[in-house]
Amino acid sequence: MVKMYLPVISLCLLHATLSSGALRSQQTRVGKLTEAFAWKQLTYNINGNILDRDRFSVDGLDRQRLKRQSDFVYFADNDDKGYDTNTIRYPTPQYNYQGYNFSNNRIDTHVPTPANNDDPTSFFIQYNNVPMGVEKVGNRLFVTVPRRRHGIPSTLNYIDLTLDVERSPNLRPYPSLREGRTLASVYRTRADECGRLWMVDTGLLEIPDQPQQVQPPAIVVFDLRTDRQILRYELKESDLPANNTPTGLASITVDTSNGCANAFAYIPDLTTFGIVVFSLRENDSWRVTHSYMHFNPLAVNLRIAGQRFQWSDGIFSIALGQPDSRRCRTAYFHPMISTQEFSVSTCVLNNRTASTDSDYWTTYSIVGERGEGTQSTMHDMHPNGVLLYADVGRDSVSCWNTNTPLSPNNVAVLGQDQDRLSYPADLHVNDGEVWVMANRLPRFSYASLDTNEYNFYIYRGNVEEMIYDTVCSTRSRPTQSSSYNNRYN
Ligand SMILES: *[C@@H]1O[C@H](CO)[C@@H](O)[C@H](O)[C@H]1NC(C)=O
Ligand SMILES: *[C@@H]1O[C@H](CO)[C@@H](O)[C@H](O)[C@H]1NC(C)=O
Ligand SMILES: *[C@@H]1O[C@H](CO)[C@@H](O)[C@H](O)[C@H]1NC(C)=O
Repeated sequence: MVKMYLPVISLCLLHATLSSGALRSQQTRVGKLTEAFAWKQLTYNINGNILDRDRFSVDGLDRQRLKRQSDFVYFADNDDKGYDTNTIRYPTPQYNYQGYNFSNNRIDTHVPTPANNDDPTSFFIQYNNVPMGVEKVGNRLFVTVPRRRHGIPSTLNYIDLTLDVERSPNLRPYPSLREGRTLASVYRTRADECGRLWMVDTGLLEIPDQPQQVQPPAIVVFDLRTDRQILRYELKESDLPANNTPTGLASITVDTSNGCANAFAYIPDLTTFGIVVFSLRENDSWRVTHSYMHFNPLAVNLRIAGQRFQWSDGIFSIALGQPDSRRCRTAYFHPMISTQEFSVSTCVLNNRTASTDSDYWTTYSIVGERGEGTQSTMHDMHPNGVLLYADVGRDSVSCWNTNTPLSPNNVAVLGQDQDRLSYPADLHVNDGEVWVMANRLPRFSYASLDTNEYNFYIYRGNVEEMIYDTVCSTRSRPTQSSSYNNRYN
């Protein structure tokens, strides 16, 4: 094993001398993770215009037109009355493009800077741009910026890994600023094996005290070969039990093991605790629930980025094991506020009548306990059966080999840093590599970011190399029977 590993190292060093990006990365590691990119604040490259400071438009006519529009629907997240989904009318998206001239692709440089961070007419308020999702697909690294404040020019963006080699590259709107305007707010993306990029557009401008549901939440799919949107499926009223459900549609997991045309997508609903299942072939969706999708009240205390608070996020992430002979896959899931892992077969999720079965509840399993501080946002599965976790509860990335029983001593920390790995918000495994975004979100939400220091980090790592000397290694240990077959009920 050591003999196999050493040539990999020397290859990396050789590569480092050839690529300044890799050389720079060699110097910046967190445990077994290597820094790929880092930002103090985000900047954008919009058709060659570099957006690196606040911009807004003072086009008086446009402002007056906005004021005249009377059909805006407002609801406050501190107001439980909310809206009635039967009567809601969606206003025209209010995010601002008035500082941008689509005729000549120029940013209006003659406009003053925004008065403050709450100005709804601002095109770009740099401080408000907090990256959330990261996913590498081919030569592109997709980076999402959900619209949780004003002044976010583009919610779906990418970094061109062949061109953007500096430490803090400008984000490029995907597919373009103009076409991206149909997206209100995206938290995380998921590429499938069929050349498609899936996401949930929450349809929500999540401005504190003034959230606006500007369009219905929808599953959106882009064809990565043509960069065209090929699907926009609006979720049904029955998928959305409460007015605040869209705030919790923060990730999507896709299963194409029944074929590209028969894909299923699973959307965890972390706010009102359920999974929305979508069948591409049937062009239909349904909702499943289970008590294991709720948060654990014993795990609510968090201390992240110097802030102490309690959260109540339920089911946050779904990661799929390999298909069995019936093409059923184990869907591993966890609430963010929990230190346990649960599972259910995709064949249960995909069967829209299964939840009417009298023993439906027993088709879910408690997989095990990960350990103290393991509250996790996203997790993802390497084809070798190892799950990787983004642990917000202890500023770490950890692993567990699903061929071993899940218990704290079978979980290994692969990287941990309370500054540089604070709030790992996304984690994807793709082509044998793990990619992680850390963004200090609690400090942004409850205090403020210091824009003179690095706040947002993207890390990468070769999964086999990262786990080779840990309990997660798949090479030296005999395969044991999985614990997830033990039914709990
Ligand atoms: C936008 O660009 C077009 C084409 O260059 C130009 O004619 C027009 O005046 C520009 N609009 C504004 C508001 O600058
Ligand atoms: C899918 O269903 C929606 C209604 O939920 C409908 O508006 C749309 O036209 C359907 N798409 C296709 C391709 O059938
Ligand atoms: C779906 O679930 C129902 C209820 O458990 C069961 O009767 C039916 O056979 C299932 N269908 C498939 C295709 O597994």
